[in-house]
Amino acid sequence: MNFLLDLQKIKKAVNVSGEIILIDEVSSTQDYIKSLMPSEVFAVIAKSQTLGKGTNNRRFYSPSGGIYLSVVVKGLKLDELHFLTPYTAVIVSNAIEKACKVKTGIKWVNDIYLSDKKVAGILTETSISGGGLDYAVIGIGINAKRQKFPHFELNLPTSLQDECLDFDVNDIVIEIVNGFLNIDKEFKDKGFMKTYTEKSVLTGKTVTAVRGDIAYKGVVKNITINGELVLDIDGEEMRFISGEVRLEK
Ligand code: BTN
Repeated sequence: MNFLLDLQKIKKAVNVSGEIILIDEVSSTQDYIKSLMPSEVFAVIAKSQTLGKGTNNRRFYSPSGGIYLSVVVKGLKLDELHFLTPYTAVIVSNAIEKACKVKTGIKWVNDIYLSDKKVAGILTETSISGGGLDYAVIGIGINAKRQKFPHFELNLPTSLQDECLDFDVNDIVIEIVNGFLNIDKEFKDKGFMKTYTEKSVLTGKTVTAVRGDIAYKGVVKNITINGELVLDIDGEEMRFISGEVRLEK
């Protein structure tokens, strides 16, 4: 197993025009890369973060031995933005599968699961002005090294080291970065959405989904090709375009 991020190895294997920066420690790669905008920086990778950000203002625990990566995406239309997180989830899931030779799943909308536990999360942030997208920053956090995780309320965490026999963190970063190079082509036919729905770990499971202040308990029928979560609540169908779900035992 190799947990040591190596910028030369990564740069050699990817064909991006923008800059890739590797830093030992930063508060958050999201905030750091945003502070560099506008620029030609494509990705910032950190070996650890002191204030890693998760979705819904939560913290993302980011000790050394993980992969903390933020990538800039430009040129998308506003109505394409809600596909960015599913697109990234498919890339990250595929990257882990290829590098670690394991099967991963996706927990709607932004978590990568391995052995029924969360191994990675995605945070998508956008800067919009004049009715168009300036840029999107997609943050990806992967638990690589075995950790003693702090208390988590929503998803039981795990690490690649806990679940995989062998991997090199650089191979995972390389696969992810390369995944973003084809984004224009992939976004044309949205073929990745089929993979996204098929990889869902929620289908058939009982969950609680939260919309506003109200929690809805039901069975997940499916995730649609548009990325909606379809819940069966006592025979009534309810669709969620965004939100958060908790898996019930
Ligand atoms: C989540 O699971 O809620 C999303 C986690 C996203 C974490 C990544 S790590 C790299 C980037 N920098 C951050 O501060 N957050 C994202």
